[in-house]
Amino acid sequence: MAFAFNDDSRKQFDWLLKRYPSKQAVLLPGFRLVEEQQGYVDHAAMDYLAEQLSLAPAFVNGVFTFYSHYRRPGEGKYIVMVCATLPCALMGAQMVADCFKEELKLGMGETSSDKKFTLKKVECLGSCNTAPVVQINDDYFENLTPQKITEIVAALKSDTVPPHLSNGPSLEGGRCSYRPMMEAFPEGK
Ligand code: FES
Repeated sequence: MAFAFNDDSRKQFDWLLKRYPSKQAVLLPGFRLVEEQQGYVDHAAMDYLAEQLSLAPAFVNGVFTFYSHYRRPGEGKYIVMVCATLPCALMGAQMVADCFKEELKLGMGETSSDKKFTLKKVECLGSCNTAPVVQINDDYFENLTPQKITEIVAALKSDTVPPHLSNGPSLEGGRCSYRPMMEAFPEGK
């Protein structure tokens, strides 16, 4: 099915075009807008962004597939992204991955049959000083231990705000909106 920005996304997209030095630079925030509007980025949305930004569809697809943290169609309500880059690896990323696999009964890259959880490996989440780290939807969980993971998964299974959140509750999403920036810098800069 064809994709098009709704009015709200369009306003944010037009603002981003003023803010960034080139159309190409708006591609990554454009993916975020698509996610915010429909929950995931699919091929229709990638084609739409390619057209809007005067980019080749193959280029857009290549950029999208490089980044594992954008939502794909069919992924679960809670996307558990386990950082596996060196600092986290040294601090126990394998333990973290094994704990989530065991708690969720999922392999890496898999989504549960009830579409509640997706488990995937990602590269550095930019919080190496608090390794090992996972990002779940928009939220970070840091300095993880098996006990913390058990408590986090138990809360998510019952759709309650999990303990050990690093940055306040936002599991319903919405943190990626550009609206606050638009208010602060209406002319884009
Ligand atoms: S290596 Fe995991 S947050 Fe940087």
